[in-house]
Amino acid sequence: MADARELLDAGERLGPEELRALQLERLRASLRHAYEQVPFYRESFDKAGIRPEDCRSLEDLARFPFTTKADLRENYPFGMFAVPRERIRRLHASSGTTGRPTVVGYTENDLSMWADMVARSIRAAGGRPGDVVHVAYGYGLFTGGLGAHYGAERLGCTVVPASGGMTARQVQLIQDLAPAVIMVTPSYMLTLLDEFERQGVDPRTTSLRVGIFGAEPWTEQMRREIEERFAIDAVDIYGLSEVVGPGVAQECAETKDGLTVWEDHFYPEVIDPVTGEVLPEGERGELVFTSLTKEAMPIVRYRTRDLSRLLPGTARVFRRMEKISGRSDDLVILRGVNLFPTQIEEIVLRTPGVAPHFQLRLTRTGRMDSLTVRAEARAGATAEARQAAARSIVTAVKDGIGVSVDVEIVEPESLERSVGKIRRIVDLRPRDTGQG
Ligand code: DLL
Repeated sequence: MADARELLDAGERLGPEELRALQLERLRASLRHAYEQVPFYRESFDKAGIRPEDCRSLEDLARFPFTTKADLRENYPFGMFAVPRERIRRLHASSGTTGRPTVVGYTENDLSMWADMVARSIRAAGGRPGDVVHVAYGYGLFTGGLGAHYGAERLGCTVVPASGGMTARQVQLIQDLAPAVIMVTPSYMLTLLDEFERQGVDPRTTSLRVGIFGAEPWTEQMRREIEERFAIDAVDIYGLSEVVGPGVAQECAETKDGLTVWEDHFYPEVIDPVTGEVLPEGERGELVFTSLTKEAMPIVRYRTRDLSRLLPGTARVFRRMEKISGRSDDLVILRGVNLFPTQIEEIVLRTPGVAPHFQLRLTRTGRMDSLTVRAEARAGATAEARQAAARSIVTAVKDGIGVSVDVEIVEPESLERSVGKIRRIVDLRPRDTGQG
């Protein structure tokens, strides 16, 4: 399904040299804008002894200081804004589960650029003008719902702003309004799958053609599960509110080989999370983004805590990033062994007899941490099948990750279902002696 070249927008048609020239020009302007308008950046650049005009090549960006979530929190709510508040057309905010939330703002031009990037993403995923797009990302302060919404409208689609929740009704809407595209978290897609089955509707018979899944890590195994159960193409969309929201990077349907970074607007780097050094292409580390065109809240070298690596472009001139393996916040260090929930997902999803629903429970006895993988039996799985599944997961974790875990196969439909971003880890260890 090669994307006809005439479907590409001007940015996607740039040649490699043109792209680099545009990036440098935009980067220099953006650094200047940040430095001149935001006291935080002025101070942090001054402290590092660097000025915007010192950026003469894209590599020079590495000399500029990082920005972290803590910096955004300290400047809550409007301290990071580079334009007067009256020019801000919309605010979004992170959930703020730990401490203050972070607020992000958009000018009219920012909202337009964001809509363009989401429209580009939906098109790269295989959506086309005229398609009905069912948006089941949450609407509200979370950027998922509204971000997807305006992008789909920009592409020329018919949007169904379903938002998250009311699962039975979602299934009804999908049957009645005949969407070609669904945009939702992969975990909520699984909740929808259960509901289709509960209603006795074969999920393979819907009008859906393409699913655009993101906002949380998911694996190739999960892609296969969703593609087979729904008979759709499942592709990955990435973004974060601090940078813009969904539409920072998107997997192209014709290659399905990681996410193309829309680097004419968001400049990626991968760094060693410990030393902060920029890593060469192909090496895994923490993703860092610098906005190139944002007005309201330019962001310089934002540390995402997401782990990935950069790869050369395939479907587009832009570089790709590998599917996110996890967030450094979700890293579990179990008796010295590093483990991400996505590694367990891969194992659970290839184990016969268990459903694609699992949870990780961390407990501590004395000084010993333990991890219990709680996975749901598939409906109808016999007691023997469940025991075999438990044994197979224990062995796969031991052999593949190198650590012993307990496995509990729980009843079908007994684990909490996601309506948005799923929480995989339940940490029951005493507070003051947390992981690390
Ligand atoms: O989750 C924006 C978004 C909405 C992206 C809908 C895609 C679809 P935040 O709530 O600020 O924004 O959370 C950002 O979510 O740093 C990653 O850790 C994680 N994340 C987002 N997309 C992916 C993805 C939205 N495709 C944080 N794969 C990011 C893995 C993802 N993790």
